[in-house]
Amino acid sequence: MLSEDARRSVEDSIKKYSQKKAAVLSTLHIAQKEKGWISEETIEEIAGILDIPSIEVKEVVSFYTIFNLRDVGKYHIQVCTNLSCSLLGSRHIVNYLEKRLGLGVGKSTEDKRFSLSEVECLGSCGTAPMMQINEDYYENLTEEKIDKILESLGHAQK
Ligand code: FES
Repeated sequence: MLSEDARRSVEDSIKKYSQKKAAVLSTLHIAQKEKGWISEETIEEIAGILDIPSIEVKEVVSFYTIFNLRDVGKYHIQVCTNLSCSLLGSRHIVNYLEKRLGLGVGKSTEDKRFSLSEVECLGSCGTAPMMQINEDYYENLTEEKIDKILESLGHAQK
């Protein structure tokens, strides 16, 4: 269930549109900010608030990679593996992150600090290979850069 604060934000958001259902994206953003991901339960709740079938909410959630369909760690690392990034070594970047974090794609560390995902183009092809961690982009990645990034997030070198 969304908190009272989140519910109020959703109500404010709905007021900006002539139709309730137009607030689906902003409502999903509010929900993800609060919960960290979009569960089936949240989808049902949003559908109820906006008076639309839950399938319509699901379609939006699945279309935008920004929405997490699973519970992710504090730092959600999303490596772009689309064409430009792939040509410039994103596979190696993914492998290196798997090794450094000791987890596979689609998994989270036991302490729930890090989750690793592969995603489609994040629109930063000119600075490939790149990844997004939460709201921030990290570009022109190398092993050294990744080491520094992980260190800044409290993941010590092993
Ligand atoms: S292909 Fe990776 S950002 Fe576009």
